[in-house]
Amino acid sequence: MTAAVMAFSMKGAGSLMGNRVVVPMPQQRRLIRSSTTTCMAKTKETTEVNFVPFQEVKPQLATVSKTDAPTESFARCNYEASCEHAMNEQINIEYNISYIYHSLYAFFDRDNIGLPGLAEYFRNSSEEEREHAEKLMIQQNRRGGRVKLLSILLPETEFNHKDKGDALYSMELALSLEKLNFIKLRELHRVAANAEDAQLADFIESEFLQEQAQAIKTVSEYVSQLRRVGKGLGVFEFDRYLSGQIANGAGPAMGAALPAVA
Ligand SMILES: [Fe+2]
Ligand SMILES: [Fe+2]
Repeated sequence: MTAAVMAFSMKGAGSLMGNRVVVPMPQQRRLIRSSTTTCMAKTKETTEVNFVPFQEVKPQLATVSKTDAPTESFARCNYEASCEHAMNEQINIEYNISYIYHSLYAFFDRDNIGLPGLAEYFRNSSEEEREHAEKLMIQQNRRGGRVKLLSILLPETEFNHKDKGDALYSMELALSLEKLNFIKLRELHRVAANAEDAQLADFIESEFLQEQAQAIKTVSEYVSQLRRVGKGLGVFEFDRYLSGQIANGAGPAMGAALPAVA
């Protein structure tokens, strides 16, 4: 093929058939020109609109290549310090509540209190709050944040109340803690929303808020029932019903309210 034929062929104005150069008719040339122009316009348009990965990834690549592996996360991506800090605070709240519930478990498990249903209920509640703390830790690490455990306060150890008795007083305390936790979770959600962190906001909504609202409803019903039954035999009956509920698989936030206590 001569240089002239090659140049002609590459322009798209003609094509080779065997050794012959086939030159298109004027009408065909116009069509070829117009389709080539359309194709080029489309390519240009596509390039302007579409994602250009090797250009756009450069800032992220720079952060990864500069990351100091022993101290910094590779996974961290648009995770604001405000969110990381708020998550560590919520971990601490869950641990504090877990510790108080554990103290309540120890109280109701005493031989001179003898309410095994309430003891088991608060032991399960304590474990559940610790699980919440751990769930938050997993999320913190998932986003490349650093889990920082904070101090937890010494809980009370005596839960007798002169007028209310121990069971009602303890359940009202539990209700107050669950309500406080709901407020704290909504504050955490607000921090995530302010940072426009959709993943964190969705995590709090789907994993915590619904369950927390249900826990408040369930504990509220326990408080109502304990108010009805008084401090003596009624508490003993309530404790037996609670034991039965736990044996049937009802957890602290499972939403399974106790049957009405006679
Ligand atoms: Fe919790
Ligand atoms: Fe809870």
